[in-house]
Amino acid sequence: MPAAGAAGPSGLDLLKTAIAVLICSLGAGSPELCGGGAVTAAAAAGVTPTFDLKPVLAFAGTQLKQEIKDFPPGSDLFPGQNTTKDGSWAEVAYTDWVSGFGDGCLWKMHALTGNASWAKTAAAVLPDLEPMKTNTGTHDIGFVITSSFGNALDAQPPPSQATADTYRKVLQTAAGSLAKRYNPKLKLIRSWGSDLAAREFKVIIDNMMNLQLLFRAAALPGGKSAWCDIAAAHATTTSKVFFRSDGSTYHKVIYDAQTGKITCKGTYQGYSDKSTWTRVSCSGQAWALYGFTAAYEATTAPLFLATAQKAADLFLKRLTPDWVPLWDFDAPKSQSWKDTSAGAIAAAGLLRLSKVAPAAAGSKYKTAALAMLEALATKYPSSAAPPGSPRLASILMNGTVSAPAGMYGTGTIFGDYYFLEALHAAYGRQAAA
Ligand SMILES: *[C@@H]1O[C@H](CO)[C@@H](O)[C@H](O)[C@H]1NC(C)=O
Ligand SMILES: *[C@@H]1O[C@H](CO)[C@@H](O)[C@H](O)[C@H]1NC(C)=O
Ligand SMILES: *[C@@H]1O[C@H](CO)[C@@H](O)[C@H](O)[C@H]1NC(C)=O
Repeated sequence: MPAAGAAGPSGLDLLKTAIAVLICSLGAGSPELCGGGAVTAAAAAGVTPTFDLKPVLAFAGTQLKQEIKDFPPGSDLFPGQNTTKDGSWAEVAYTDWVSGFGDGCLWKMHALTGNASWAKTAAAVLPDLEPMKTNTGTHDIGFVITSSFGNALDAQPPPSQATADTYRKVLQTAAGSLAKRYNPKLKLIRSWGSDLAAREFKVIIDNMMNLQLLFRAAALPGGKSAWCDIAAAHATTTSKVFFRSDGSTYHKVIYDAQTGKITCKGTYQGYSDKSTWTRVSCSGQAWALYGFTAAYEATTAPLFLATAQKAADLFLKRLTPDWVPLWDFDAPKSQSWKDTSAGAIAAAGLLRLSKVAPAAAGSKYKTAALAMLEALATKYPSSAAPPGSPRLASILMNGTVSAPAGMYGTGTIFGDYYFLEALHAAYGRQAAA
């Protein structure tokens, strides 16, 4: 990590930043979306669980204690997106898209249990992730910084003012880094690639989740309104180009940055070019419903609520009756692998959506989310794996990262994170564990 109190930005850097902000705010062109105020996050719902939550939290605690042993504060490795053959976490550097979720799980466990010991360890991991704040090479900076520093700022009881200020500054530096990936002509943030001038401009639906960093940073003291404008512009463009008429979403859209034309729409996790036109990745659909809900909360723009509901309605219409999604709504019988991570993301997103949607729809989303959570909590903890299967480091089993790449039937660190988030959003703080 950079030494605390490292030299501040040079005059040239400041000038560059000023120009970048000016260009972005001119190009974003949707300041009205950011003027509408924001929905204040409601307190945890405190529903009584319909199943025994205690053993679920006890098992989560066991798994997370092992995570802390394997990836202690001061480590330069973090739990990766999947578990490996022997059941342990793959290991990744802070630059990986999932590097913040292991820390995020500790923050969520703190939120769920109120046991300060989780927050203490979670805070001690933050310096290991902090170098990500200046990484302009990927949109995933949003996932990394929001799941770590974002949660640190939300902790209850809150951190001291001085500590909160350092967390806020990390979020805002990171937002400035993400904003550099915005293309005012396309009105989109580039998902991948460190070459910001590359002609091939890739956007995946997951990028909707990263907008939370921009919305959040803009709303904090000293935040730039341009960050909100950029995020709102990206969400507006996404709502126009990513959706099919039935409400399902493409996973990726590729532009030619020079002509501004779309050269490809498809499903990143699909298995052939032809099939990408029809396949609907359940995780892509889950990112969409969650991401548009968060965009609505930040702006109260009706377009974002309508888009979130469109994504949610398709997800629920096509969900299997056991409430746990397959990896792809159109998966053939021979490939009917579950994706518990998509289920966890969707449950967390639906719980947020249930608080802002019109009453009848909201209650439908909440009922569905609770049923999904119960199915995940009772049938898919990795402690329920059949004898003889490797002992997984994850809380949930049967996640899919990318079925075509053979990454199914695995634990996922992001699935665990959204599972804990959804448990907290649904049931509120439980007795210490
Ligand atoms: C879930 O994972 C377990 C353990 O790997 C496996 O035995 C089981 O068949 C999987 N279930 C589904 C529905 O994929
Ligand atoms: C897990 O991820 C690592 C690194 O991304 C990859 O090399 C490995 O093949 C994956 N393993 C499984 C079982 O999916
Ligand atoms: C809090 O968590 C720590 C670490 O997991 C554990 O040792 C301790 O017993 C817990 N405290 C309570 C009150 O449950």
